[in-house]
Amino acid sequence: MEQRIDGKAIAEEVMVEVKSLSTRLISDTGVIPGLAVVIIGEDPASQVYVASKGKRARECGFHSVQHTLPDDTSQQALLAIIDDLNNDPAIHGILVQLPLPSHIDEGKVIQAINPDKDVDGFHYINVGKLTSGELGTAFVPCTPAGSMILLLRTLGRDLSGLNAVVVGRSNIVGKPVASLLLAANCTVTIAHSRTKKLDEICRTADILVAAVGRPKLIKGDWVKPGATIIDVGVNRIPAPERGEGKSRLVGDVDYDEAVERAAHITPVPGGVGPMTIALLMANTLSAAYRSAGLEAPKF
Ligand code: GUN
Repeated sequence: MEQRIDGKAIAEEVMVEVKSLSTRLISDTGVIPGLAVVIIGEDPASQVYVASKGKRARECGFHSVQHTLPDDTSQQALLAIIDDLNNDPAIHGILVQLPLPSHIDEGKVIQAINPDKDVDGFHYINVGKLTSGELGTAFVPCTPAGSMILLLRTLGRDLSGLNAVVVGRSNIVGKPVASLLLAANCTVTIAHSRTKKLDEICRTADILVAAVGRPKLIKGDWVKPGATIIDVGVNRIPAPERGEGKSRLVGDVDYDEAVERAAHITPVPGGVGPMTIALLMANTLSAAYRSAGLEAPKF
């Protein structure tokens, strides 16, 4: 049996669904989903992510705008742009690429975004809705939402009663994915860098979500036979075997060891990564549906 979860293929399935629902929304209501991405500074990795977000948005038939601002942009100037986007009826989703330069208060910027346009799901209103189980109207952060779709489509069953262990407690991944697993009736343990006997806790997991940012932390013998593993880690490590100065990406799980015991496992790259952008498109579509007074589609 193929154990490798093909995130690229499942992300493409989601993209096809988003495109078709976007076409239908436009023809039924005239509302064209609009996504604005704001990026500050020249960080090459962030530039690549942002460019692909714009490209994917256009593929979905969305109105796509990008604000590229210099490194020394003031917080006040950034907040003024967010205010304009909050009040622009052609824009349904606003994403401010993180991290921001250190002179800008990230929390303040995130909380300035209209929660109805917060397609990242980072605003306290959306965090509160998610933890309260108000999933019909919440925006759920893209990586956790994408991870859940991988689980649901791979296992093809209700997750009720399964033991889920989340390694990592960030606001972007660990905490929201734990909330989603709890809403799906899993028994959820959140472990992190200070957790004692992490190996023993991981061995209880029917579903193991790794999001700590420590290359190959999770070893093969930490995996319960038959477990499903979602590896959110993206770590760049030196790869001298590929030539001098070369590097490669690895996850938080030692894939080659874990694949010997897991029933299903996401690779890095090609697992969770492609889902994140697909879910950003899905969230933007949902924002546009809601702005037209319609219930958001489910994925
Ligand atoms: N930078 C890395 N991941 C993310 C994300 O999910 N959203 C935003 N806005 N910035 C990021």
